[in-house]
Amino acid sequence: MTDAPVQQRTLVLVKPDGVRRSLAGEILRRIEAKGYTLVAVELRQASDELLAEHYEEHAGKPFLAPLVEFMGSGPVLAVVVEGHRAIEGFRSLAGATDPTVAAPGTIRGDLGRDWGLKVIQNLVHGSDSEESAAREIALWFPAL
Ligand code: TYD
Ligand code: MG
Repeated sequence: MTDAPVQQRTLVLVKPDGVRRSLAGEILRRIEAKGYTLVAVELRQASDELLAEHYEEHAGKPFLAPLVEFMGSGPVLAVVVEGHRAIEGFRSLAGATDPTVAAPGTIRGDLGRDWGLKVIQNLVHGSDSEESAAREIALWFPAL
């Protein structure tokens, strides 16, 4: 591997189901055990406006309204995670979107399941690209 190292920051959210089930610590533990650094951590109640901006790529999709309702149903833990290739690294730790079929060993696969809302309650969010990460970090942590 002769490519230049890619130091990245990614936005992780422990969603309201993760906070309610007291899994925030376990999820942070997995991120730290992987070797990534926590740059910022904040528990907060997200407004509908913030969530609509956060999920702007999903505007018009049928799951957006129930998703925003769920994401506002309690506090989320917003986290900025740093490390080389941290964006794809955290997505790999999180596992597939649908927790019912997410691989064992992943956050969603080990700790998540369908509680009656199909895939909405999947414990975590992680930015999916450098562009999304920059946009989402600026949205959740404007001071960073
Ligand atoms: P998406 O960005 O596709 O997934 P990911 O979180 O893995 O990046 O979708 C955002 C969230 O929307 C997802 O975590 C759960 C919810 N969602 C649904 O409720 N139904 C769906 O069909 C999809 C694709 C997502
Ligand atoms: Mg996504």
